[in-house]
Amino acid sequence: MNKDFKEILITEEQIKNQVKQIGEMIDAKYGNEEVVIVGLLKGSYVFTADVARAIKNPNVFVEFIVASSYKNGDSTGEVRIVLDTKRPVYGKHVIIVEDIIDTGRTLAKVKQMFVNRGAKTVEIATMCTKPARRVVHVTIDYPTFEIPDEIVVGYGLDYNEHYRHLPYVAAITEEFFKKGLIK
Ligand code: IMP
Ligand code: MG
Repeated sequence: MNKDFKEILITEEQIKNQVKQIGEMIDAKYGNEEVVIVGLLKGSYVFTADVARAIKNPNVFVEFIVASSYKNGDSTGEVRIVLDTKRPVYGKHVIIVEDIIDTGRTLAKVKQMFVNRGAKTVEIATMCTKPARRVVHVTIDYPTFEIPDEIVVGYGLDYNEHYRHLPYVAAITEEFFKKGLIK
């Protein structure tokens, strides 16, 4: 294994199965109704692409937003929408797609924003979650992986922009954590 990693927490195979399940659930739930998938950049770029391709519904649209809240491996609590959706969500089904839920602050704020905009339904799909870190409750509507309180990278997730391109999710070592801060 790469020396920067302590452990692989979620394998490529596990994520593939999860994505397939989520796609099937979305098709079963919404049929051919219009659904707007909203990925949170940058972290969810991989998961959003995979989930979108697992959906057969022809009336699915993909949007991205950037909600900035995370600095140097620690959550600051403040959430800003830096890039917004192009497609109006009023009266539409929205599914927010996220890489990880940590404190829950980002998703709570983003979900409320789409509710306020008059979306017909707003659901959340997150690849993984750290329940031990939760500050704000967030309902997760699709299968997710519960992981321990570790800094993880891969499958879109980064540590100071490193390792987003891995096809699996790994916990980083203490050494890499310290090294990563000096940049
Ligand atoms: P929250 O608002 O505290 O739930 O923060 C969620 C955001 O923090 C996610 O979208 C990630 O960008 C980031 N995040 C939380 N934990 C990790 C991690 O272990 N690795 C990389 N990014 C993380
Ligand atoms: Mg993120």
